[in-house]
Amino acid sequence: MKNLKKKKILLIICGGIAAYKSLETIRILKKNGCEIKTILTKSAKEFVTPLSISSLSQGKVYDDLFSVENEIEMDHIALSRWADLILVEPATANTISKLAKGSSEDLASTVILASNKPIFLVPAMNVRMWEHASTKENLEILRKYSYKIIGPEVGEMACGEYGEGKMTEPVSVVKTIDSYLFTISKNSKLKALVTAGPTNEYIDPVRFITNKSSGKQGYELAKSLSRNGYQTTLISGPTNLKITDEIKIIKVETAEQMFKETQKNLPVDVAIFSAAVADFKIIKKKNFKIKKSDKFTIQLEKNVDILNYVSNHNSMRPKLVIGFAAETNNLEDNAIKKLKNKNCDMIIANDVSDRSIGFESDFNEVTIFYKNDEKEKLFLKNKSLISEEIVERINNQLN
Ligand code: PMT
Repeated sequence: MKNLKKKKILLIICGGIAAYKSLETIRILKKNGCEIKTILTKSAKEFVTPLSISSLSQGKVYDDLFSVENEIEMDHIALSRWADLILVEPATANTISKLAKGSSEDLASTVILASNKPIFLVPAMNVRMWEHASTKENLEILRKYSYKIIGPEVGEMACGEYGEGKMTEPVSVVKTIDSYLFTISKNSKLKALVTAGPTNEYIDPVRFITNKSSGKQGYELAKSLSRNGYQTTLISGPTNLKITDEIKIIKVETAEQMFKETQKNLPVDVAIFSAAVADFKIIKKKNFKIKKSDKFTIQLEKNVDILNYVSNHNSMRPKLVIGFAAETNNLEDNAIKKLKNKNCDMIIANDVSDRSIGFESDFNEVTIFYKNDEKEKLFLKNKSLISEEIVERINNQLN
């Protein structure tokens, strides 16, 4: 497991019977060259001792939130920055619930809340607790916040019951982390470009034709690509959304500007066109504000098709070109036509006749149509989760 070498892992151990397994996790991580610091929650100390953890990890073990000694050495914010990755193992139902609420009542939850690093949760609990609707809801929230969940497995539990809730074995946990780090490091050499949001096509200096795109889907895709290690550029039409610092953002207004910025930012390895680009622009835009008394007609001409330009580029076609199709009827036929006509590797079709998804909504439901005639439906989810799943498919295709 080469990708773990010299990685700084912050291991947070919570109070569950599976806490003893964290000793094995520490042993494997150390063997593979990781530097480890550990936080023990109050109840974890009932199951494992700070002394055994520090002896094995050869690193500091933290427990109290605002101990003077700890804060002088490394405060809770610095601790969350120090780590390359945070591993919460075992993640109990109680901790999962606290994290979903964003609470910061002890060192573990405070450090996690303050973290900007990948966070892996390894749940372990009784089968009924795992199956409880509140746990499911909490996990859904945490997935939306981009926490990664490993397991649990089906098996016999310490309490004697049988079912899903058994903690994934340490060796598998570490392998999952290693393969995640492998993907991130491979992706960090790759460039991604995303278009998002609407475009404004001006009639006069203060009036324009636009559409309902909020940019949410495209922004979430850019965030997901960046979290997966890609050097990401987001070319955005007018939106009120904010984006993380790691992403290069270029704000544009018109389709023409979006096209020029796309050209300037080629070549890339993967390009996703989620923008709702206006198909037409005004032929003779007025340079002054049109008065009520003015008689005028608007004549339109076609805008350049940015996706089409990129997907048919002779020398700079990205390895993966992904288009979107917003359809109100004949979703499948129209999406397949776009896939072929626009020379895409994938078309992601959303049915925008249902007002609760697609444009403006936080949710989406999409069908991915692939060049090899396969298709795959991603059922109704928050746009951030849909994006994670799309990027997972991009990782598979590029690797
Ligand atoms: O922004 P949100 O509120 O989150 O909503 C998301 C969305 C519904 C806008 C998004 O999921 C979506 O479907 N985007 C594409 C919308 C669209 O206009 O599709 P289209 O069928 O008109 O275009 C097909 C493809 O060609 C799209 O990838 C589009 O970006 C691209 N295109 C279209 C015209 C043009 N001149 N240049 C382009 O690149």
